[in-house]
Amino acid sequence: MKPIYSRIVATGGYLPERILSNRDLEQMVETSDAWIFARTGIRSRHIAAPGEKTVDMAEAAARQALADAGLNAADLDLIIVATTTPDQIFPSTACLLQARLGNRGAPAFDIQAVCTGFIYALATADRFIRSGGARHALVVGVESMSHIVDWTDRGTCILFGDGAGAVVLSAGDQPGIISTHIHADGAYADLLQVPGGETRIAMQGNAVFRVAVRTLGEIVQETLAANALTPAEIDWLVPHQANIRIIEATADKLGLPMERVVTTVEHHGNTSAASVPLALDEAARRGCFQPRQRLLLEAFGGGFTWGSALLRWG
Ligand code: COA
Repeated sequence: MKPIYSRIVATGGYLPERILSNRDLEQMVETSDAWIFARTGIRSRHIAAPGEKTVDMAEAAARQALADAGLNAADLDLIIVATTTPDQIFPSTACLLQARLGNRGAPAFDIQAVCTGFIYALATADRFIRSGGARHALVVGVESMSHIVDWTDRGTCILFGDGAGAVVLSAGDQPGIISTHIHADGAYADLLQVPGGETRIAMQGNAVFRVAVRTLGEIVQETLAANALTPAEIDWLVPHQANIRIIEATADKLGLPMERVVTTVEHHGNTSAASVPLALDEAARRGCFQPRQRLLLEAFGGGFTWGSALLRWG
């Protein structure tokens, strides 16, 4: 029997209309545009409008990806949503999205791996497709981080933004997704969390920074080694957009020039599970990726969780 692979056939993205700049933040907490930009590379982020829900953003990104794929919602036989900021405890955001799109019967579920959520969801959908369990999967990363940010904490409120990104994965006879690698270590739970009974992010930024740089360096090396590739054979790095200094450190370890790294952090901030699919969508729409180029996606987040996906574009 011929092997089945999964392949990204379309992307979609959505960013809320309202932009919150560093200058705006200067009015809210003791900070400055210069400090934020120098430490994070962020100038502005998008914030959901009052009443705008996580599922609204997911729907906008999903509809764009479906239209680009030339598929109807009824064609989907798997829906996975990566989010840490669902509108409700249940039903899952994936089920709410399924109803909005008008799909009935496909399995639909959420994955919660914070900023690594999209990579976890992609890895899961890839396994469904490879094993013959699905032919067309919708994978969405969406976050309303503004709902869980402590807007009085200058150490965290400057970092996060809202948005959604989506991909449609379809079965094919060649990769597509070459390999995925996902990990977690709950021993680090205290460094980045929304503590039990609370609704706001608490973070030890400096410690998170150090572990993120080390771990992302390791995951990209693991991905290259698993596929017997050298960094020179990677065409694009599509990293989680948490902080430009973390992105530069990973690119540096790979020896990749920044011209081959997709960065959206300056205008998106950290949109957690939405950051990688949004970066992918933005770069794809700019025409950055050529057919069959190799892309390396990576992310790191609360848990800690981390992961990567190596794929061929188009
Ligand atoms: N504006 C001005 N000063 C600020 C500030 C802000 N927004 N936030 C913190 N500071 C101050 C601190 O109070 C501290 O002052 P002190 O020396 O007088 O105590 C000083 O800046 C240095 O703080 P520190 O936390 O060591 O700064 P840093 O260089 O580590 O930068 C982060 C802080 C949050 C930008 C950085 O740690 C980071 O990006 N960490 C990773 C976070 C992340 O990506 N999380 C998500 C992972 S998916």
